[in-house]
Amino acid sequence: MSMPSARITGTGSYLPQKRLTNHELAQKVNTSDEWIRSRTGIIERRIAAEGEFTSDLAVAAGKNALMAAGVSVHDLDLILTATTTPDLIFPSTASIVQHKLGAHLNRTPAFDIQAVCSGFIYALSVADQFIRTGACRRVLVIGAETLSRILDWSDRGTCILFGDGAGAVVLEADHGGKRGILSTHLHADGAHVDLLYTHGGVSRGGPSEGGIGTIRMHGNEVFKQAVKALEGCVDEALDANGLTKEQIDWLVPHQANIRIIQSTAKRLGMPMERVAVTVDRHGNTSAASVPLALDEVARSGLIQPDHLVLMAAFGGGFTWGSALVRW
Ligand code: UT7
Repeated sequence: MSMPSARITGTGSYLPQKRLTNHELAQKVNTSDEWIRSRTGIIERRIAAEGEFTSDLAVAAGKNALMAAGVSVHDLDLILTATTTPDLIFPSTASIVQHKLGAHLNRTPAFDIQAVCSGFIYALSVADQFIRTGACRRVLVIGAETLSRILDWSDRGTCILFGDGAGAVVLEADHGGKRGILSTHLHADGAHVDLLYTHGGVSRGGPSEGGIGTIRMHGNEVFKQAVKALEGCVDEALDANGLTKEQIDWLVPHQANIRIIQSTAKRLGMPMERVAVTVDRHGNTSAASVPLALDEVARSGLIQPDHLVLMAAFGGGFTWGSALVRW
């Protein structure tokens, strides 16, 4: 029997209620709505409520994806959660999500994936391997973050960029073989930790005030690296599948900065109407950004069966990668 492909049969997402606008941020730090809009494309972002954790966002997105797929939580063979902002150091957020979804009754395996903003692409790739080998038939893949908890609200270079949210997909084995994930490509380069990191952690110790550390970034340098890596991702995915750029129907990129998104779209010669853009309303939600954007275009009904959808992300690590899907 031929190897099954991993088909996305449902998408879901969840955003916390609270919106934080650029104007509100301009009252906290020395910035302006005009600067943030023109340099990033962001207008507002969502912030999780007190007592609302990454696992809560993940569960809400996961339930929506399961409902869209018409799959019961009891039929899942694996739950993956991509996050950089876990509820706790351990157990994994995926374990907590598994329990909150009721999948503990089935002892469904669950684990986290930490690849910062590329986490969802990494998790999709892992799920794809489990399905292709026949080890799993149905996998729930979630990207969820509460980045607001690791921001330095006095640093205008970072606090204006990030937001909270979650997105999810259900992947199912498809023996038809034509639809589903066609390829994934993952990359990492750990030589640039000093350009994007948190200044505290479990083993190295926290900052003197006793916190867990907050995001530190040399934005301009990260920007250049992101543009280069994402352009490489586009070419790599096209080459590996023997496709030309005209054949790609949708680009669903990581939502860090509209200028980075536009440069990736340009590489593909793709009009912006065929590019999923949520950065204006969500900011950068790290591992949640690609599945949040995917859910938005999927629910709009604009992606048709057999369309080619290219997802790509770049983030801390550095990590980057792509997933090409025949819808
Ligand atoms: O998701 C993981 C990957 N992350 C990314 O991809 C983020 C990549 N980086 C970026 O998106 C952009 O670099 C930023 C949006 C973070 C910054 O934009 P930029 O055009 O690269 O600005 P810059 O860092 O070169 O700073 C230009 C100026 C500086 O002032 P001086 O030194 O020229 O006087 C900054 O201090 O803008 C200043 N600045 C601000 N001004 C008003 C930095 N942040 C702000 C701010 N409001 N919020």
